[in-house]
Amino acid sequence: MAFPPQFLDELRARASLVGVVARRVKLTKKGREFQGLCPFHNEKSPSFTVNEEKGFFHCFGCGAHGDAIGFEMRAHHLSFTEAVERLASECGLEVPKATPEERRVEARRASLHDAMESACQFYEKHLRGPAGREGLAYLRGRGLSDDTIARFRLGWSPDSREALKTALMSDACPEAQLIEVGLLKKPDNGGASFDFFRGRVMFPVTDRRGRVIAFGARTLGDGQPKYLNSPDTPLFHKGATLYGLAIARETARERNVVMAAEGYMDVIALHQAGFTFAVAPLGTALTEAQIEEMWRLADEPILCFDGDNAGQRAMARAAERGLPICKPGKSLRFATLPAPEDPDSLIKAKGPAAMQAVLDAAQPLVDVVWRLSTDNRPTDTPERRAALEKELKDKAFAITDETVRWQYLSVFRDKMRALTRPAWVPSQGKGGFGGQGRRADFKRRPGDPPLRGPDGRLPGAGKPPPPQVDDAVWLRRAEAKLLSLLICHPPLLEQVFESLGEVGFSDKNLDNLRRGILKHLQSIHDLDSDQLCAHLCADGLGQGLDALMGTDEFKIGRVETIIEARQHWDRHFKRYAWKRGLSDDIGHAAQQLAEQMSADVFDRFAALKEVGRAIAKDDDDDTGPEF
Ligand code: UTP
Ligand code: MN
Repeated sequence: MAFPPQFLDELRARASLVGVVARRVKLTKKGREFQGLCPFHNEKSPSFTVNEEKGFFHCFGCGAHGDAIGFEMRAHHLSFTEAVERLASECGLEVPKATPEERRVEARRASLHDAMESACQFYEKHLRGPAGREGLAYLRGRGLSDDTIARFRLGWSPDSREALKTALMSDACPEAQLIEVGLLKKPDNGGASFDFFRGRVMFPVTDRRGRVIAFGARTLGDGQPKYLNSPDTPLFHKGATLYGLAIARETARERNVVMAAEGYMDVIALHQAGFTFAVAPLGTALTEAQIEEMWRLADEPILCFDGDNAGQRAMARAAERGLPICKPGKSLRFATLPAPEDPDSLIKAKGPAAMQAVLDAAQPLVDVVWRLSTDNRPTDTPERRAALEKELKDKAFAITDETVRWQYLSVFRDKMRALTRPAWVPSQGKGGFGGQGRRADFKRRPGDPPLRGPDGRLPGAGKPPPPQVDDAVWLRRAEAKLLSLLICHPPLLEQVFESLGEVGFSDKNLDNLRRGILKHLQSIHDLDSDQLCAHLCADGLGQGLDALMGTDEFKIGRVETIIEARQHWDRHFKRYAWKRGLSDDIGHAAQQLAEQMSADVFDRFAALKEVGRAIAKDDDDDTGPEF
C-alpha cells in the first residue's frame, strides 16, 4: 500500500537512525557524525558514516547511501513496505490504513487471503483422508517424502461439485468471494456455482510472504488439461508470481543463487534434493517482473531449460527478454538439461550430482546471446559478417543500462574480430590496440622489477605519460582529438555526454564547439557526420570547425566504427581529464559531501569518482597508436 507522507516523516523522526544502524554496526562519534565499518561491503578501516541530523547514512567506500528505511531494506533484504512495517512496529507507530476506502480494500484482501488459506487447509486435509488416497499414493509414487508434501502443502480436491463450497461457504466467506478468488466457478448459463478444482492433486501457489494466492491442480490420468490453474484474481497475477518463492527466498539470498525451473514438480523435486533455491514461473515464459523478483534474491539467477527444441526456443526468448533489462552486476545464466529430462526426472534418474553438474555448466547471458546469433551461420563474406555485426549491435543497443550496453558492444567487437583473425597469442606487455588478452596472463609478484613502458620509461606513480610538449599545447591537441571523434561519429555523444559536460575545454574555439555539439544531444542518434557539421555551421561555428578539420589531430576521428571511436575516446579522455585536475574536483566534492549529504552532491561525487577510478586504472596504459 502507499503510505501517507506525514506518516513516513513521523516514522523517520521517531526511528533514530543511529539507533537503527547501531544494532548492526559498532559506531563511534566523530564530530557531528558517527563512523563505523560498513555492513554492506568488506572493509578494515571505517568509511561508513551516519549523520543523525540529516537522517542519512553514507559509505565512502561502496557508495551505499540512504535513510533509516533504506538501511533496514539493505540490511535485512526487505521491500520498502516491509522495512516500513518493521520500523513502525519497533518504534510503536501504528501503520495507518490511510483512508476508509483503503481500509476497506485491505480488509477485503485479508478476507480473500483467509478464503484461500481455508481452501488450502481443506485440500491438505483431504489428501490425508479417504478421498485423497489415490492422490497421496501418486505423490509418494513420484518420490515425494511426507515432509516434502507437508512443506509444499500439497493437497487433494475431492471429486465433487460442492465439497469445497459446502465446507467453506459461510457469512464470513460468502459465495461471491469464493468466486472472486477462483475457487468456485459460476457457469455462464446462470446455474449454481460449483467447485472449480475437482479430483486433482493441489499445488498451492503463494506470494513472496507465503500467503496462498492460487492453486495449480494436476490430474492423475491423461485428462486435459494436465494442470488446471487458478485464473488471475485480485490476489494472483500469474506473470508476477514465482512458484516456490517463499520457500526458496531464504537460501537464495544467503547463497546468492536462485534457479528457475519449468514446473511445479521440478521445483518440489529440486527442493527435496537439496536445491532449496529453486522457483518456477507458472506455465508461461519468464516475465520481466519475474526476473526482477529473482534479482532481489541473487545477482545471476540460473534459468534452466530442457534440451529439446521447445526448451531451446524458450531459452532464446528468455535471453531476449532479459538482455535489455540487465544492470551492472545483475545478469542471467542459462543451464540446459540433457534431453529428454526435466529437473525432476534427471534427479530421479541420475541423482543430485547430475543436476549440480548442469547448474555448474550454466552459461552467462552474453555467451548465450552470441551463440544464438552465430550458431550455424556462415560468416565467410564481409556482407555476412556485416549482417551479424548489425544483429549483435541491435541486440546490444536494446540494453537500457548504458554501462552494460557498452560492455556488450565491446565483447561483441572482440568476438567479431576473433572470427576473422587467426588465433592470436598475446605477446607480453605489448599488444594490439585494445586487443583482448593484453596483460591478461601477466601476473606480477612482489619483488619483480618495475614495469616499463614500450619506450623503456617507468610509469610515474599515478601520473599519465608526460607529454613532451607544453601543457597548453598538449591540452589543445587532446581537446581537438576528442571533438574529432565526436564529429566523425556523432552517436558517440550519447555514450560520453556526461563526461563531456563535466569539463570546460581550455581552448576557447574548441570549447565553443564542445558546447555546440552538446546542444544536439537529443537528436544525435539520427545525425550523421555531415549533418552534424551542417548544424554546427548553422549555429555559427563553421569557422572553428574548419580550423579543427585542418589539424593533424582531426585524423584520429577517421576510425571506422563507433566502437573504435569509443576506445580512442576513453583513452584520450582519461588522460585529458587527469590533466585538467579532476582529482582536485573529487577531493572538493568529497569535502562537500562530508558537509552536506544530499542526493545531488552525492551524485556529483559518484560521477567524478568514477572518472577518477578509470584514470587511476589506466594512467600508465598507453600502448595504443599515437596520432
Ligand atoms: P510440464 O508439462 O513440463 O509438466 O509443464 P511437469 O511440470 O513436468 O509436470 P509433471 O512432471 O508431468 O507432473 C510445465 C509446467 O507448465 C504448466 C505447469 O506450471 C507445469 O508445471 N502447465 C503445464 C500448465 O499450467 N498446464 C498444463 O496443462 C501443463
Ligand atoms: Mn515433469
